[in-house]
Amino acid sequence: MNAPAKNEEFAVKIPDGVYAETVLAVEHYTDRLFRFRMTRPAGFRFRSGEFAMIGLMVGEKPVYRAYSIASPAWDEELEFFSIKVPDGPLTSHLQAIKPGDTVLMRKKPTGTLVLDALTPGKRLYMFSTGTGIAPFASLIRDPETYEKFDEVILTHTCREVAELKYGFDLVEEIRNHEFLSEIVGTKLKHYPTVTREDFSHTGRITDLMENGKLFADLGVPPLDPQTDRGMICGSSEMLKDTKALLEKAGLTEGANSKPAEFVIERAFVG
Ligand code: A2P
Repeated sequence: MNAPAKNEEFAVKIPDGVYAETVLAVEHYTDRLFRFRMTRPAGFRFRSGEFAMIGLMVGEKPVYRAYSIASPAWDEELEFFSIKVPDGPLTSHLQAIKPGDTVLMRKKPTGTLVLDALTPGKRLYMFSTGTGIAPFASLIRDPETYEKFDEVILTHTCREVAELKYGFDLVEEIRNHEFLSEIVGTKLKHYPTVTREDFSHTGRITDLMENGKLFADLGVPPLDPQTDRGMICGSSEMLKDTKALLEKAGLTEGANSKPAEFVIERAFVG
């Protein structure tokens, strides 16, 4: 007799009140990073930049972690960009998913990295490290971002060049996209840097802001609360240090209930 398919085993145990979606594609970038796409439930609404609780059945119990939705609000599928932690409660299992497998998602998305939490401005900076690029992968594919801002600057800092590939692929996809390429035009600037290898741009984004190299390379003036808005997504330390620099430049932190000049969110870990 054949062993039951994995999904049949899952099917009987799926908890109430969550979506059970089907994995459509998985792409591994390095031994630490991968992305996957899955079906989007009919009726599931979110704003580009928000996160959802993503989970798997591990034995009898569902295990969930917060994941930024990397696909834009208009996309028919959902995309996620994930780290692989060898003994992570969720990612040690999630990294093994294949097309056809079932992934759980709680029904209510939330988050602060949304356009609604920012006051109007000219230039939007998105500061990310590692998987912190995920919410921005959503926002840079949303036409509304380009309706609201004249210039969109995506910085992505990783330890190694191989870890930047997701971001490069994303920008390439936008440039070749049938309707997004026209909407985006020359408004999107991608600024990738690495900290532990040689590359065209090296160093932590905080250092590149402090020494002015980021602004010189981009040909833009230093941060100005009149014109510039920011979104930050990375580790706790990265958030703290980047936030301090934005505050030093006179920008204040906003929220959904009180829009201001910048917003922050911790990138998914484990
Ligand atoms: P570094 O190599 O100097 O630690 P991680 O994989 O540890 O999350 O790091 C992702 C990237 O974020 C790395 O390039 C790392 O640089 C950088 N980074 C780590 N901490 C900070 C911080 N406090 N401010 C800015 N960048 C940081």
